[in-house]
Amino acid sequence: MIEFSDVSYSYNENENLISKCTFTIEKGKKTALVGASGSGKTTIFKLLCGFYDTYEGDISIGNFNLSKWKLSEARKYISIVGQDIYLFNDTIIENIRLGNINASDIEVKNAAKKAYAHEFILNTKNGYNTIVGERGIQLSGGQRQRIAIARAILKDAPIILLDEPTSALDTKAEYYVQQAIENLEKEKTVFVIAHRLSTIINSDKILVLENGKIIEKGKHKELIKNGMRYKELYKTQIIEEVKGNETIIY
Ligand SMILES: Nc1ncnc2c1ncn2[C@@H]1O[C@H](COP(=O)(O)OP(=O)(O)OP(=O)(O)O)[C@@H](O)[C@H]1O
Ligand SMILES: [Mg+2]
Repeated sequence: MIEFSDVSYSYNENENLISKCTFTIEKGKKTALVGASGSGKTTIFKLLCGFYDTYEGDISIGNFNLSKWKLSEARKYISIVGQDIYLFNDTIIENIRLGNINASDIEVKNAAKKAYAHEFILNTKNGYNTIVGERGIQLSGGQRQRIAIARAILKDAPIILLDEPTSALDTKAEYYVQQAIENLEKEKTVFVIAHRLSTIINSDKILVLENGKIIEKGKHKELIKNGMRYKELYKTQIIEEVKGNETIIY
């Protein structure tokens, strides 16, 4: 279980971005975090990863208080697939191996298969030995995401933090990324900053962040009925999937 208890944090001294924020994330469940742009969602992820140590309140992972851990300790338990995916100027295989530097080539390729990246990798000039980044081939957004997912699958950490992109990929790319994420999420504790309706619908719990606090929580159906703020966010922030000519409304 992950627990935030009265956590406050700000980038500048004048005001608290995160302000006495309290919530729990159950082990093995999928929890979605929603909130307006700039409300502090990514900041909550960074706090959980131990990037900032000047927060007030308590953050715990399992029975451990984050403040007692070294940064490297927290990272062992967490894989992040973020909004900006950083690829090094190196081969595809080494970019994936970053998830676990001790992994064999076969283990890297198995992770790439689960991340739906194997086929497009084989279609590049030198396959797994193709250089990516500035000096090599440029990958599409969906391909980069799948490299990041392959990395995370290889790392096999029990906690997955997923910061969903705010804009949708094209339908086909989106499909492969979603399949890859499903493979990554198996048997993990998943905490996702969600913009897609399908992600939200599939979550065990949704947390609504506003003014530094979780102001509403529950499942999609409950929040659509009772969540005042959720309903507004739903209209403005959430990407509805369009399949064929139909918009799917739940
Ligand atoms: N490193 C930083 N230094 C100073 N201010 C920051 C830093 N990172 C974020 N902020 C500010 O903190 C606020 C919250 O940022 P954060 O990235 O957590 O928002 P978010 O909810 O993830 O937004 P989005 O949905 O657009 O990704 C923003 O006003 C942002 O400008
Ligand atoms: Mg963000």
